[in-house]
Amino acid sequence: MKKIGIYFGTDSGTTRLIAKKIAKKLGDEVADKPVNVNRTSLDDLLEHDAIIMGTPTYGEGQLPGVDTGVKDGSWVEFLPKLSELNLSGKKIALYGLGNQEKYAARFADSLFLLYEALTKAGAKVVGEWGVDGYTFEKSLAVKDGKFVGLVLDHVNQALLTDQRIDSWLEKVVPELTAA
Ligand SMILES: Cc1cc2nc3c(=O)[nH]c(=O)nc-3n(C[C@H](O)[C@H](O)[C@H](O)COP(=O)(O)O)c2cc1C
Repeated sequence: MKKIGIYFGTDSGTTRLIAKKIAKKLGDEVADKPVNVNRTSLDDLLEHDAIIMGTPTYGEGQLPGVDTGVKDGSWVEFLPKLSELNLSGKKIALYGLGNQEKYAARFADSLFLLYEALTKAGAKVVGEWGVDGYTFEKSLAVKDGKFVGLVLDHVNQALLTDQRIDSWLEKVVPELTAA
């Protein structure tokens, strides 16, 4: 079986930290080392059939990129290249970082931007996550009452992070690796 690829964008490093936690929990027989999207190529990413992608939300509910202050670029620069491809046959699970207290009206919004681009390109996005346990006003990332991927608030709820990752992985890995 091919390994699960883990790709992330970040500014201050939390989304990388989470990617590393996920990789460690999965083990190196199951997942490849996490890679920053500003240091990879489409070819590398497309070698995987099952992929976990992570992003923080910046600006006004935006994906990270040069415009939000990530000087080497991030999802804003990478995503348009990816979304031009036909991603049918790829299974992708998403996780997003946000701050529900400070940005309650656009909590983890950018998760939806990833979801939208990937589903439009034909990928099957798996790994929705319940909204219980979070307090926010609005999030684009909620679809049919659930987040379109795992949402983590490592600023205000760091103590819940590990347990959230564990339960999400338990559900998502069988979906990602199913034939
Ligand atoms: C300038 C700025 C803007 C932000 N905007 C949002 C936002 O719109 N929505 C949200 O949920 N979180 C927002 N955040 C919180 C970050 O997404 C959160 O701190 C995240 O953990 C950062 O991840 P990183 O360390 O991987 O860059 C913002 C943070 C900063 C510093």
